[in-house]
Amino acid sequence: MRALVTLIIGLVAGVLFTVIAMNTLRKGTAYPNGVMAVMSAQLVQLDQRLKAEACSKDDLASNLQTLAALGNDIEPAFLPTADDVMFSTYAGDYRAAVDRALAVPAASCADADKALDAINATCTACHTQFKS
Ligand code: HEC
Repeated sequence: MRALVTLIIGLVAGVLFTVIAMNTLRKGTAYPNGVMAVMSAQLVQLDQRLKAEACSKDDLASNLQTLAALGNDIEPAFLPTADDVMFSTYAGDYRAAVDRALAVPAASCADADKALDAINATCTACHTQFKS
């Protein structure tokens, strides 16, 4: 009887700890996933603006500024990684591409397209290395 009670207590405690651990893991990934989800939404919006031929500095500024601000959250959201120095290099490349897009306003939609491609390339570069 005592063995059975001990077993049941053990099972209940096991389930509780598993639930707690799973919640902790989920909290851990909400921040990085959130940063990436917003970045990706901003890129989609930029793409839509280009398709609508709204490519002036003013048309693109708010999305680019959000992308620039999100650049400050990449390391806080993801570190530690398997290689933090390498990760920060990729994050720096991303920030530089966004800064360039902000600093040199597109003269045409084709120009804006190139600037977005440059930003996109930095996403892909980091994902190739760090996204499982
Ligand atoms: C410095 C590295 C880095 C840069 C730059 C980067 N990402 Fe990511 N991204 C990651 C990593 C690492 C993951 C995998 C996260 C995971 O598995 O939890 C990821 C995952 C994602 C995901 C999937 C999120 C999910 O819920 O699984 C999306 C979407 C995404 N990134 C979009 C982007 C876009 C768009 C850009 C560029 C504007 C970008 N990322 C730039 C590192 C980066």
